[in-house]
Amino acid sequence: MQSPAIEYDYTVAKWFSYLAILFGIIGMGVGVLIAFQLAFPDLNYIFGQYSLFSRLRPLHTNAVAFGFTLSGIFATWYYVGQRVLKVSIAESKFLQGVAKLHFWLYLITILWAVVDLVFFRHTTSKEYAQLEWHLDVLVVVWWVLWGISIFGLIGIRREKSLYISVWYYIATFLGVAMLYLFNNMEVPTYLISGMGDPFHSVSMYAGTNDALVQWWYGHNAVAFVFTVPIIAMIYYYLPKESGQPVYSYKLSLLSFWGLMFVYLWAGGHHLIYSTVPDWMQTMGSVFSIILILPSWGSALNMLLTMKGEWGQLKDNPLIKFMVLASTFYMLSTLEGPIQSIKSVNALAHFTDWIPGHVHDGTLGWVAFMIISAIMHMAPRFYKREIYSKKLLEMQFWLQTTGIVLYFSSMWISGITQGMMWRAVDQYGNLAYSFIDTVTVLHPYYTLRGIGGLFFFIGLFMWAYNFYKTMTASRAIEREPQFASPMAA
Ligand code: HEM
Ligand code: HEM
Repeated sequence: MQSPAIEYDYTVAKWFSYLAILFGIIGMGVGVLIAFQLAFPDLNYIFGQYSLFSRLRPLHTNAVAFGFTLSGIFATWYYVGQRVLKVSIAESKFLQGVAKLHFWLYLITILWAVVDLVFFRHTTSKEYAQLEWHLDVLVVVWWVLWGISIFGLIGIRREKSLYISVWYYIATFLGVAMLYLFNNMEVPTYLISGMGDPFHSVSMYAGTNDALVQWWYGHNAVAFVFTVPIIAMIYYYLPKESGQPVYSYKLSLLSFWGLMFVYLWAGGHHLIYSTVPDWMQTMGSVFSIILILPSWGSALNMLLTMKGEWGQLKDNPLIKFMVLASTFYMLSTLEGPIQSIKSVNALAHFTDWIPGHVHDGTLGWVAFMIISAIMHMAPRFYKREIYSKKLLEMQFWLQTTGIVLYFSSMWISGITQGMMWRAVDQYGNLAYSFIDTVTVLHPYYTLRGIGGLFFFIGLFMWAYNFYKTMTASRAIEREPQFASPMAA
C-alpha cells in the first residue's frame, strides 16, 4: 500500500496549521478574558467600550469555532485528503490554485469578521450565525472552493476505495453548506428601504420559525463543525500515530449513517419549554437520547483501536491527547442527551451547566484533537523530529487540569444556580434574589477563569514546540513510520 513516489504538497496544510495556532491563541485569550470578566466585572472596561463582554463573547465564539476549528479542519483535510487518496494536489495546478484561493479568501473573511463584530457591531444577533450578509457571501465562495478541492482530489485519486475519514469530510462539506444556506436567508435592509447601514440585514424567517431554523442550524453546527470533521481526524491520526488498524470498519460506517440520520432531528432540545410545538420539543429530546448510540459507536471504535496497545499511552503524549479526546467525546455525548431530557433541561437551561457541557466537548474533544493532529503533521511537514516530547507531555497535563477545573466548576455553579432560581419559601415566593446567586457563584467563576488560563498557557507551549520542530529540531531522513495496514 506504500506509495513512496508521491511527493505530497503540504503548502496549504501548513498555512492553515499556522492559522489554527494563531486563532487558537487569539480566540482562547479572549475566552480567558471574558471568563474573568464574569468573575470581576471591572475587567469589562480595560479597553473602553471595545472590551465589553457583549462585544467579546461573539468574538470568542466566532474565533474559536470559525477561526481555530475550521482552520484545523482545513489543515487536516489538505494533509489527509492527499494521503488517503494517494494523490498530490500539486498534480493539478488548478486544484493547487483553488486551495490557495480558498486559504486567502478564508483569511480575509475571518479578519473582516473580527473588525465587523468588535468595531462596527455588524451582527445578525443569531448565535453562531452572527456574520452579516456580505460576509456570508464570502463564506459561500470559499466553501464552494473547498468543495471543489475535495471532489477534485477524489476525481484524480489513485486509491480506489474512499477511506472512512473522506466520508466524514464530505459530510462536513455537504452538511454545513445546507445548514448555512438555509439559516442565513436574509435580505439587506438597504434593499428594502433604500437607507440605513448597507451591511445590515433582516432574516427571511420570523418569530418561532426563525427560532426553529436557527437551532436546527445551531445544533447541527455542533454536529458538522465540532463532531463530524473531528471524527474524520481521529479515524486517520489515531491509527497512524499508534500503528494500529481501525478496530471495526463496519462500526465506523454504522456510526456514520447513524450520526447523519439522527443529528438533524435533535435541534429541538435547544427550545424546550419555548413556543415551538410540544411534539417538536419531544422529538428533539427523543432523538438526542438515540444520538448516544452512534456517538458512542464512534468513540468506542476509537478506544478499541488501542486494544492491546495501551502501553503506548505511557510513552507517546500524542496518543494521550487522542485517547483523552475520545473519552471527552463520550462524556459530552452522554451529558448532552441528559441535558435534553425535559425535566433536566428545566433545571439546566440558561445556567452555567450548559457552557460546562460546551467546554468539556470543545476543549477536551475538539481542541485536543486539533492540537494532536497538528503535532502529528509537524514532523512530516518539515522532516524533523518533534522538538520536545517532554514539553508536549507537560502541555497535556496542564491543559487537562485546565479542562477539569473548567467543567467541574461550571457543573457545580450551573446546578447551584438552577436550584437557587427555582427555590421558593413556604408562601411560594422566590427564596433568592438574582444577586444572591451571583455572590454564591463568584468562586466558581474565578476557578473557571484559572482553568481557562491553564489551557491558554498550554497553547503557547504548543506554538513554541511547533515552531522549534519547524526550525531547530533534529532532521530525519524518512518521516516516522508504523506498520499500519492503512498506511498512506
Ligand atoms: C481557554 C479556553 C476557553 C475559555 C476560557 C473559554 C471561555 C468561555 C466563556 C467565559 C464563555 C461565555 C460563557 C457564558 O456566556 O456564560 C464561552 C462561551 C463559549 N465558548 Fe469558550 N472558552 C474557551 C475555549 C473554547 C473553545 C476551544 C471553543 C470551541 C472550539 C469554545 C466555544 C465556546 C462556545 C460555543 C461558547 C458559547 C456557549 C453557549 O452559548 O452556551 N470555547 N467560552
Ligand atoms: C449526543 C450528543 C449531544 C447532545 C444530545 C447534546 C445536547 C445538548 C443540549 C440539550 C444542550 C443545551 C440546550 C439548552 O438548554 O440551552 C446543548 C448545548 C450545547 N452543546 Fe451539546 N449535545 C451533544 C454533544 C455536544 C458536543 C460533542 C459538543 C461540542 C463538541 C456540544 C456543544 C454544544 C454547544 C456549543 C451548546 C450550546 C449551544 C448554545 O446555547 O449556544 N454538544 N447540547
